[in-house]
Parts: sequence; structure tokens; C-alpha cells
Amino acid sequence: MTRVFSGVKPTGHLTLGNYLGAMRRWAEVDQHGSDALFCIVDLHALTVDHDPARVRRLSRQGATLLLASGLDPRLCTVFLQSHVDEHTRLSYLLECVATDGEMRRMIQYKEKAGRERERGGSVRLSLLTYPVLMAADILAYGADEVPVGDDQTQHVELARDLAVRFNHRYGHTFVVPKATPPQVAARVMNLQAPASKMGKSEDAGPGIVYLLDEPEVVRRKVMRAVTDSGSEVEYDREGRPGVANLLEILAACTGGNPESLSSVYHSYGALKKDTADAVVEVLRPVQARHRELCADPAYVEGVLREGAEKARAMARPIVDTAYRAIGLLPAHTDAHPEKPAVLNAAR
Ligand code: TRP
Repeated sequence: MTRVFSGVKPTGHLTLGNYLGAMRRWAEVDQHGSDALFCIVDLHALTVDHDPARVRRLSRQGATLLLASGLDPRLCTVFLQSHVDEHTRLSYLLECVATDGEMRRMIQYKEKAGRERERGGSVRLSLLTYPVLMAADILAYGADEVPVGDDQTQHVELARDLAVRFNHRYGHTFVVPKATPPQVAARVMNLQAPASKMGKSEDAGPGIVYLLDEPEVVRRKVMRAVTDSGSEVEYDREGRPGVANLLEILAACTGGNPESLSSVYHSYGALKKDTADAVVEVLRPVQARHRELCADPAYVEGVLREGAEKARAMARPIVDTAYRAIGLLPAHTDAHPEKPAVLNAAR
């Protein structure tokens, strides 16, 4: 069965863009048809200035929202990256396979580091090495497919390159993964700036609908979305990006098609109202389930604990194989002891 791995960084509140662009498909398709792992990649949240309390809060909330969006721990594995040491163990080995030039060429690094330097700030070394940790996330599980948006395809390419290079130098160890772009047409854009993605990392945004926004807040944000000059409802991504975005959101929420929906509407007001209602309806069950899960934190913790155990059992043998292949001696003569050697001896 195809193994799928994807990760969500706890650096901001999850948005309608995350949901329609990725999470919904993970729940509806990926967890059924494949052996899927979904990870809150908390270590990645430490690559830029961070507030520990906020990372903790967003990690818990992110995991809870993954479950609320329909991921079922009986069908897939949901866990926190920092609970499975294999990610950082493997990351170091991959740092010994990657080159510094390769890291400095990463578009996201250049952009983020450039912005930080302009502000006179310093850039964490982990921001540079971040794509190697991401490669480790993927390769540690032998993932075949990585469903990510196009801002992440360069990072998945790097994971492929590192896998091929490692296998070539040290013997076949890793599955060579590939990025699978989300199939749904929903590339949700910022309601106030429809040229840019509805990302979670920008702070407070009147153009960003968060998954936990109250219905009135959702309605207000959608009703205030920027539309384009003119008044005809046309589906034209280039010429009318604001209206196209609303049509795409409406289509994604109702299972329709943006092109044909455009002929149903004769005013921006009516389109906005129906889009607002559709978004509220899509978020309603997710929010209801989120409330239930928040009332039962022990359940969520249990899911994450079991998820980490399952994940570790998958990653451990692969990472151990890589350690031996690259020239490190095993700590135990038995490669995968059930228990540490000392405990075994004492029994
Ligand atoms: N870099 C991804 C992002 O910013 C998150 C991520 C980290 C990830 N590790 C991953 C995604 C592994 C897919 C697979 O969105």
C-alpha cells in the first residue's frame, strides 16, 4: 500500500485554506486509500522567533483540529514530530549527505532569511537546515507520496535528491518520495489580497478565515472580501482574482464548479452571501467535533501517544539501517532489541 506522509507546522492557527487545500482530502481520501501519517511538525516551528507557550498551544490545537477534520486514528497515524526521536537522528545523517550550497539555494530560505536580515534580525541556523529535517520526516517512514502545496515542492525535490544520493553512496536504504499536489481545485487565496495564498503564518488577517472563527466572524470576513472592479460575476483568475477566489471557495464547499457557478450569480453581494453560508456550513461539523475533543484532553493525548508509538515502530528500523549503512556501529549486537540490552540481561 502506498505510504503517505504530510506535516503541518504549528506556527499559526489553521485556516480555511489548510482545510480545503489539504486536510479535507487527507480525511476523505488519503487515510482510506493509503497507509497515511499526519504529523504536527513542532520542531519546524522553532526555526524562527517563537514563543514556547504559543508553540505548545498551537501544537495541541493543530493535532485536535486534524482529528476534528475527520482523521481517524484507526485508519491513519497522527502524532507530534518531537515525540519521535528518529526525525532528528536521521536529520543529522542527511546533513552529512546534503551540501551547504543546496541549502542556500532553497527559495523559502532565501525569502525568509532575506526578510529577517532586512529587519536587522538574525537568522537561526535551523532555518537553513530545515529542509533536511523535512527530508528526514519523509524518508524516515519510507513515504512514497507527500501531499503538499507548490510552495513545498522544492523541499520534496531535495528529499528525493538526498534519498537517491544516500542510496547510491551507501546502499539502498530509502524510498524515493514524490510530491503529490492537492487534486482539489481549492487553492484558497487571501480574501483581502487574492494574489497571495490564505496562509496561516501571517498574523491577524481580515482576509484569513480560521477554522475556529465564529460564524459571524466568518460571515464578516467573506462579506468584506475585496472584489474586482466591474460588477459582472465572471470566473477569471487573472483578471478577476477576488471574484474567482470566492467562486472557488463556494465550489469547494458545495461540490460545484467555479465556472458554472459564475453564471448563477448576477451580483457580488449574492455571491458573497452564499459563499459565507457555505463556509459556515463546512466549518460547523469540524468546530463541533473540535469542542467535543477539547472537552476530553485525555483522549487526544492518548491518540498522540499511540500515534507516536506506531510512528516510532515504522521509523526505527529504517533509521537504524541508515546508521549502519553510513558507517556507524550498532549500539547493540541485536539490531532491534525489544528492550534495552541491560534490561534484557537483568531478566
Ligand atoms: N515544510 C512544510 C510546511 O511549511 C511542513 C512540513 C515539515 C512537511 N515536514 C514535512 C510537509 C514533511 C510534508 C512532509 O508546510
